[in-house]
Amino acid sequence: MSENTSMHGFWKSRWLFILAATGSAVGLGNIWKFPYITGENGGGAFVLVYLLCICIIGIPVMIAEVSLGRMGRQSPINTMKALAKRSNASPNWAIIGWMGALAGFLILSFYSVIAGWALSYTVDMANGDFVKISAEESGNIFGALLGSPTQLTIWHTVFMLLTIGIVARGVNAGLENAIKFLMPVLFILLFILFGYALSSDGFSQGVNFMFSFDFSKLTTESIMVALGHAFFTLSLGLGAIMAYGAYMPANTSIAKTVVIVAFLDTAVAIMAGLAIFPIVFANGLEPSAGPGLLFQTLPIAFGQMSAGVIFGTLFFVLVSFAAWSSAISLAEPIVAWIVERFQVSRYKAAAIIGLSAWVLGLATVFSFNIWSDVKLFDKTPFDLLDFLTTNILLPLGGLCIAIFAGWKVSTTKMMDEVGIDYPVLFKLWLFTLRFLAPLAIIAVLVNGLI
Ligand code: PFF
Repeated sequence: MSENTSMHGFWKSRWLFILAATGSAVGLGNIWKFPYITGENGGGAFVLVYLLCICIIGIPVMIAEVSLGRMGRQSPINTMKALAKRSNASPNWAIIGWMGALAGFLILSFYSVIAGWALSYTVDMANGDFVKISAEESGNIFGALLGSPTQLTIWHTVFMLLTIGIVARGVNAGLENAIKFLMPVLFILLFILFGYALSSDGFSQGVNFMFSFDFSKLTTESIMVALGHAFFTLSLGLGAIMAYGAYMPANTSIAKTVVIVAFLDTAVAIMAGLAIFPIVFANGLEPSAGPGLLFQTLPIAFGQMSAGVIFGTLFFVLVSFAAWSSAISLAEPIVAWIVERFQVSRYKAAAIIGLSAWVLGLATVFSFNIWSDVKLFDKTPFDLLDFLTTNILLPLGGLCIAIFAGWKVSTTKMMDEVGIDYPVLFKLWLFTLRFLAPLAIIAVLVNGLI
């Protein structure tokens, strides 16, 4: 097991690592993205493929990514350089770190804009703007937000400042304490929303939509989206979880910890879907409404609930927090690398990355209004950034991680690191990492791109 230390600090316990990794994993991907891509890709069959991707590819690759991080104890770029050297492999394996840092940066740019929507909704909710609102009015409010570059830019700026503020101070101060309290509250609120959905007319239709497997609706593109999302939701393939692994205490079992994180992450996504789709059907909305799905549906539910203003406000506060703890992990790999490489303070490194990602974020801001007709490969700048990172860079990163950890690092070292107590299970994991996961990723990528 790795005994060397990290210059960036450590999680004080296994529990704090679980919290931080869950904070990274649970975010807009679960609450905003999962429901809307499920809606766009036809429901049940997509959910099934997504769950398979989590189990067969996501969990094994996540165990590998955290292990590599803890072996290297540096930013993903330097970790990969060091591990390649130690394993007598080509220094080019550092590409995993580079590609990841780039993907993290690109995702941060649009993630901040969407998180800005949640901030804006928090204020609207608290103002009581959604009380007794109809589906049409809800759509109009959302449309007005997207139509205003100024509004979007203001909230994007606020969110980016919040994110960079925490990254600059290091992860131990502040965030750990906040997440410890906020994650459980998020679960409770999702339960309340689920309870509301349960009592609505659309419940059985919603459940049917999510869990009846109509494979005729499954296309190669939707399989690619499911795989990409498995990576996105678990924060895999770009080094975020590798960076967090680098700060993990040496004597904790990585495998067990990863399974807990993946389970919590999946539970939040499924609960968000079960809360949203019944409301969609009860109000005659379209499940394939796209990125606005969450923002157009849940306010209707809160508007009808007693004390909906309080619950609604709290809900969007929590979505913002979930996004916050994820955004921090998007910036961490590249900020940690700048600190190591140029010996500058975290403040400076975080400010440089924050400012650049903010500027790039404007492309996403404009994708919803003045640039909505600017298209490349039939995609707006936002769609393109999302597609390139989630559906291509993350699976590619995951593929390289699986191959490197499975084939290049010595098996004894891996065995020592991952903490899978049963030899049979370890062999199963290694087999998945060496053959199953890479082949599945290659098949999906090749099919999807052709
Ligand atoms: N997992 C986050 C979510 O589901 O919202 C997004 C994310 C964070 C993706 C960190 C990738 C990452 F490295």
